[in-house]
Amino acid sequence: MTDNGNPRHIAIIMDGNGRWAEKKSMPRFMGHKAGVKAVRNIVEHCVKEKIEVLSLFAFSSENWRRPKKEVQMLMELFIGTLQSQVDKLDNNNIKLVIIGDRSVFSAKLQNKIAEAECQTENNSGLTLVIAANYGGKRDISQAFQKIIKKINAGALKAEDISEPVIAQFLDTSELPDPDLFIRTGGEQRISNFLIWQLAYTEFYFTQALWPDFDQLLLAEAINSFKGRQRRFGRTGNQIINTSNLTIK
Ligand code: IPE
Ligand code: IPE
Ligand code: MG
Repeated sequence: MTDNGNPRHIAIIMDGNGRWAEKKSMPRFMGHKAGVKAVRNIVEHCVKEKIEVLSLFAFSSENWRRPKKEVQMLMELFIGTLQSQVDKLDNNNIKLVIIGDRSVFSAKLQNKIAEAECQTENNSGLTLVIAANYGGKRDISQAFQKIIKKINAGALKAEDISEPVIAQFLDTSELPDPDLFIRTGGEQRISNFLIWQLAYTEFYFTQALWPDFDQLLLAEAINSFKGRQRRFGRTGNQIINTSNLTIK
């Protein structure tokens, strides 16, 4: 949490694009296109509010199960958006980080991702994390693989494995854990997003479909977050006493 009570890190499952389009009798793809516009608004709001990290779930490791055509269109939209938005992100001091298994993407997409990350890596404003072909369980299993390789190489001892050590091997090693998790579209599930990192995150679910999620709705979610008492296992009184101490 920051001094003004804002979350440092907001993680969002941008859900409901397909239903948004279907409600308007449009092809699902139009919902994804409209979703990109919503991303721009939300990024803008996070910059204004000086949020440190915004993580957006763009494509899950399970989304490959969708019809081929939808997957292909999503990939094209991803490449096109990276291409058209990187300079704008860069000019706004935004650092772009892509998490997930990129090794299965086309060489073209992998190059675009690497270029975009490289171009923005020294920016010090908002860190915008896009989860693409991301799965929380895969993230944890790839961390296992790296840890076991270290152990086999003698660079780490099994007894030194701890929660912070595991966190260092996750895709999010450079990021604080999310303070606020938002899911649009009405479903109340994690869908294999940042399962390790969300252990103590505040959850916020809204019926709004992602293309309709605007700055006002984000402000509502942030306000809900500000009204919560995060206890991390302590009692409510302990938290009140500690905050009194900080005020003094
Ligand atoms: C989220 O919207 C975007 C992606 C998963 C890529 P959906 O496409 O899941 O939209 P609904 O849930 O079908 O409405
Ligand atoms: C989760 O949405 C993934 C993204 C938003 C990218 P889905 O719409 O794929 O989730 P499920 O399958 O309904 O849980
Ligand atoms: Mg969905």
